[in-house]
Amino acid sequence: MGFSRRTLLVAGGLTVLGLPGCAVSGDEIGEDGSGKVEVFSWWAGPGEKEGLEALVADFRRVNPGVEFDNAAVAGGAGTVARTVLATRLENDDPPDSYQAHAGLELDNDVAAGYLEDVRYLYDQQRWRERLPKGLVEALTFDGKIYSVPVNIHRANLLWHNPAVLKAHGLTPPISWSQFLSQAAVLRGKGVLPLSIGPTWTQKHLLECVLLGELGADGYTGLWSGATDWKSAPVQEALTLFVRVLDQSDVATAAGDWQPALDKVVAGTAAYNVMGDWADAYLRTKGLAFQQGYSVVASPGSEKVYDFLSDSFTLPRGAPHRRAAERWLIECGSVSGQDAFNPQKGSVPARLDADKAKHTGYLAQAIAEWTDSSTRVVGSLTHGVVAGTKRSAAIDAALTLFVQDRDTVRFAAAASG
Ligand code: GAL
Repeated sequence: MGFSRRTLLVAGGLTVLGLPGCAVSGDEIGEDGSGKVEVFSWWAGPGEKEGLEALVADFRRVNPGVEFDNAAVAGGAGTVARTVLATRLENDDPPDSYQAHAGLELDNDVAAGYLEDVRYLYDQQRWRERLPKGLVEALTFDGKIYSVPVNIHRANLLWHNPAVLKAHGLTPPISWSQFLSQAAVLRGKGVLPLSIGPTWTQKHLLECVLLGELGADGYTGLWSGATDWKSAPVQEALTLFVRVLDQSDVATAAGDWQPALDKVVAGTAAYNVMGDWADAYLRTKGLAFQQGYSVVASPGSEKVYDFLSDSFTLPRGAPHRRAAERWLIECGSVSGQDAFNPQKGSVPARLDADKAKHTGYLAQAIAEWTDSSTRVVGSLTHGVVAGTKRSAAIDAALTLFVQDRDTVRFAAAASG
């Protein structure tokens, strides 16, 4: 993807909005600024709801009369929310704005005509100049843009409990084969090498194993077509993934990502692979970075940022369209991103946000994200590199693969 990062000379802050000359539906913000906005997301769980609350607090400060109707549906990675949302969209009952990811994930909604092109907001707010070029590219479908990014998350991370590693004389593995050697030691001491959760977390692990084994170019080629899923390196990486999974508690997997991380905190598991929303969650537990928990790039992926970006949409027929525009402007603003990201465990999408607000793990994340030598690749599990259909095919094939371990059949299904 290769994001170019220009230092912006443009001053940050909210631009006062002249509302666009688009048709406006019935609702509306009264002359006194009152109104309502229903925002649909999956940020209901610990570590995520705190981020949303911080963003909503800033939204309320900027839009004091607008009531925020929180339509969050719990469940990591939006697995539950997406089903609820699909029904609402099919039934012509859209929320005013819904959570999505930058990248191919929105292809279906765009093709179905569910979304408005929001380039006029990008023009008004001068977002194109204030966002990384590669991110704007990932948000663009046939020259149009259908969502506004609020952050950048990193997926390829290995979380651990420093006291547990110290007790067993280990340092985090830098390759997946090194992880397997450590796993043998850990098992001998009664420690689970890797905790895991539901299918989406297994897909997240798969993406990290593929990245670690194939490298940034090989991994990116899986999605562009340049890397052959039937080739020996990919087949070997898939076999390795199964061996890694065998070192996890997949048979009795945790219900969601937070309880999987709890096992690392409790010291019953040594490692967990998860995106950096884990940082926000671990902080809600009162843990200090590098004491209660620590993190490194997932094995073999140092200096690579497997990115994803949460973004919000403007559905066609949004009941409170003007309030929805205000929400999108909040998501894309410096003040919104400065309030949200330090709580959410992500770094700002905007180039001109306040880096100093990011401490602990996030100081490290923002330094890596803005380092021009960092390679950027897109997340599979969180919407960047695969469209709806391909991603769903991978989900179905993965459930089977975890049982039958048939790398050839999985590769055929995943190759798109
Ligand atoms: C991702 C989302 C993150 C975080 C995570 C776990 O898809 O982009 O913001 O919420 O799911 O639920």
